[in-house]
Amino acid sequence: MQHKWIAILDFGSQYTQLIARRVREQQVYSEIVRFDTTAEQLRARRPAGIILSGGPNSVFEPGAPLCDPALFDLGIPVLGICYGMQLTAKTLGGTVRPGDHREYGHTQIETVAGNRLFAGLPTELSVWMSHGDQVSVMPSGFETSARSLSCANAAMCDQTRNLYALQFHPEVVHTQNGQKILHNFLFAICGCDGDWKLSSWVEETVERLKRQVGDEQVVLGLSGGVDSSVVAVLLHKAIGDRLHCIFVDNGLLRYGEDRQVETMFKAKLGMDLHVIDAKARFYGALKGVEDPEQKRKIIGREFIEVFAEQARRFKDCKFLGQGTIYPDVIESVSPLKGPSQTIKSHHNVGGLPPDLKFELVEPLRELFKDEVRAVGRVMGMDDELLDRQPFPGPGMGVRILGEVTAARVALLQQADLRVQEEMRKLPNFKTIWQSFAVLLPVNSVGVMGDQRTYENVCALRVVDSIDAMTADWTRVPYDTLARISNRIINEVRGINRVVFDISSKPPATIEWE
Ligand code: XMP
Repeated sequence: MQHKWIAILDFGSQYTQLIARRVREQQVYSEIVRFDTTAEQLRARRPAGIILSGGPNSVFEPGAPLCDPALFDLGIPVLGICYGMQLTAKTLGGTVRPGDHREYGHTQIETVAGNRLFAGLPTELSVWMSHGDQVSVMPSGFETSARSLSCANAAMCDQTRNLYALQFHPEVVHTQNGQKILHNFLFAICGCDGDWKLSSWVEETVERLKRQVGDEQVVLGLSGGVDSSVVAVLLHKAIGDRLHCIFVDNGLLRYGEDRQVETMFKAKLGMDLHVIDAKARFYGALKGVEDPEQKRKIIGREFIEVFAEQARRFKDCKFLGQGTIYPDVIESVSPLKGPSQTIKSHHNVGGLPPDLKFELVEPLRELFKDEVRAVGRVMGMDDELLDRQPFPGPGMGVRILGEVTAARVALLQQADLRVQEEMRKLPNFKTIWQSFAVLLPVNSVGVMGDQRTYENVCALRVVDSIDAMTADWTRVPYDTLARISNRIINEVRGINRVVFDISSKPPATIEWE
């Protein structure tokens, strides 16, 4: 079944992803596409509506991103937001100029009666502005639909052509009734059905995977993380034992993770899972290496080699499954965003040798992280697995400062296990981005009974973050800190001191290496 959907043209606003979220929250499927997607391409995919996002540029700057003017003639409703409004005006023959009194943040607007976008809303609204330019002369056919003290055209529309534009951002929570404005656009103007639900997404995706894979086989690298696990369960539903999972145990995982993966996927779900014990190989390659970058390179290289070796055993497989999710895709879609750091690149098996030619199966490409978790829940997966925090590809390799040895991994696993157990007891555990232990390359003096000790120091790192680009240290309750420290020092032989990391990112990073 083809759902009605909304295309969001991305002009580089920090809020573009938020627009996509807000639309999906109303059970309408939305997709972010490049700003230069042509009218022809859009016509072929038949969206029910088009949203032009905001963006940091001025429309008069040389090189400012423009849209295909023909998209306004497709007969598909368009909503321009902020830069999207200024672009609408400029493209259709209006005038844009820098505002006399720049409005940023909260502003009061007064709407004009009879506008379908504001139907059912109070006349006065408090909205969120974040751009200096404004439309001074509207294109012909347009009329003002809202004004503020310093902006005569805070919103404009041409209702006969279904073209709407807002100077403010309806997608941010600071705009009163913002969701209602979007609701009016989606339902009253674009005629969406609001029938996009994750449970039906699962059924449709399983059917789609059946068609895509046909009678062929799929090989999948399982990392133990949320995304690849959800892909495994989806594919297993679709093609059963024609799915072959490879789990590389690099010896740098959290305590018990290898067993958990085996229990869940092999014993409980009956999947064809191949656990590859590559611990010795990784420890061998890391012997004597202390430099963080070199450690990362070695771990990445070994992973690809081990995975490729295993994947070669499945040469009959035509497809390679991957847990790529929407934020990973947007990074590559948006030509306006600089080379920003992707959180997860290690587990996405790029760089396979050329003799391994798989076609990719990436069923989560269109979902946000919390939607991936929700899909997992719909399919009955364990919360414990779905609520897993991000875990770096190089694993404990970047949490053991200095040389990585089997003994130091075992020590850190024991300390980290206690951190996990205590943190999970906190009611806000799910809102915490990451919490883990780090093993430092120094010993410190302590006293136990009558004995002087000289043992390892372990650091506790707990952070709040939205996207891992910035992070702040979590204000963990003192009692929890006390329990973690007592348990590690009393229960883990070899650690006699625990310190708490109170650095934010930037300038520090989340991981220590
Ligand atoms: P940093 O330490 O750079 O980490 O602040 C940001 C986020 O990325 C994770 N991370 C990685 N994830 N491969 C990964 O898959 C890596 O090499 C890697 N390095 C860091 C880190 O855990 C945090 O969530």
